[in-house]
Amino acid sequence: MNTLTIDVPVSAPYRVHVGTRLLEQVGPIARPLVSGRRAAIITDSNVGPLYAPIVEASLKEAGFSTVTFTFPAGEAHKTLATYGQMLAFLADAELDRHDTVVALGGGVTGDMAGFAAATYLRGIAYLQVPTSLLAMVDSSVGGKCAVDLPQGKNLVGSFWQPRAVIADVGCLGTLTDAQLADGCGEVIKHAVIADPALFELLESHPITRSALENALDLVATVIARNIEIKRDVVVQDEREAGLRKLLNFGHSIGHAIEARAGYTLGHGTCVGLGMVAITRATARISDGDETALEGLADRIEGLCRAHGLSVTCPYTAADLKAAALHDKKRRGERIDLVLPRGLASCTIQTVTLDEFFLLMEAGLAPKEDEA
Ligand code: GLY
Repeated sequence: MNTLTIDVPVSAPYRVHVGTRLLEQVGPIARPLVSGRRAAIITDSNVGPLYAPIVEASLKEAGFSTVTFTFPAGEAHKTLATYGQMLAFLADAELDRHDTVVALGGGVTGDMAGFAAATYLRGIAYLQVPTSLLAMVDSSVGGKCAVDLPQGKNLVGSFWQPRAVIADVGCLGTLTDAQLADGCGEVIKHAVIADPALFELLESHPITRSALENALDLVATVIARNIEIKRDVVVQDEREAGLRKLLNFGHSIGHAIEARAGYTLGHGTCVGLGMVAITRATARISDGDETALEGLADRIEGLCRAHGLSVTCPYTAADLKAAALHDKKRRGERIDLVLPRGLASCTIQTVTLDEFFLLMEAGLAPKEDEA
């Protein structure tokens, strides 16, 4: 497979590499991008045993000395305590301002290692080496990094762009079905907000385990297209002053479902449910073409189902009200929502919380033929 590259011309430009056998290329890719001789690999207890030795060997071959910090896998460990341990590890290893962090893993690892790199010595270089679909298509690109607080997810963080993103699609084979489906929620989101042709491609060729086994080239092409879509938004609005909010399509209701479920439902499932609900709500309150938008909601629901995401929301709007109030994107009594008008045609609209609750009610009410 040829490696695909996507350039991200933000304030500190970088390149994303998508292909196979790229873990072995981490050292050569890193070498011209960082001046220091030391690299700290940050990884978790699932990914480290599988892939850290390959990345270590590649870095050593390229002239780096390496140290590896491994933390217990899972969102439960995306805490200030783990972040503090990472910083202490970097300090004990005596990394200096010229050295680099290598974030090897999924979204939790990338977010936390990125935040450690952003803050250690007021910011050192880091590379994103995403190993999950979610991290490849979304969290490794765009420079958002964060840790959770007991009060909510990603409440402490910053924007800090990596020197490069290296996505080895060969790593996707070791994901669980739930981890694969988590990334598919974001893939579907990108298709809805930006690319009807990608949407149709996913309808005919969903990203499933069979696709990983039999059509990895196509999967890599879909991942690269997702990165381009995200790049095109991020370059216009690096720090989410406006347009970048488009990437939150489906997330306001999705986050409320995720929080209400105590994070027992996958992120992809919750984003999928959120996308369908806000599309149905827009259909039901709009004075435009209700049938076309209900049709779009049906198609998004079909795509979610085809990607192994549950399409049954276990909650009513009333169940979600308290969780929705904790949305970190809320601005006082208002919230910015992404409302679809059609494929590749979404608007960002500021609504009051009362209007948001009405939209949730409209979007989560059963369809007439199901009532
Ligand atoms: N995941 C949304 C963003 O990076 O803005």
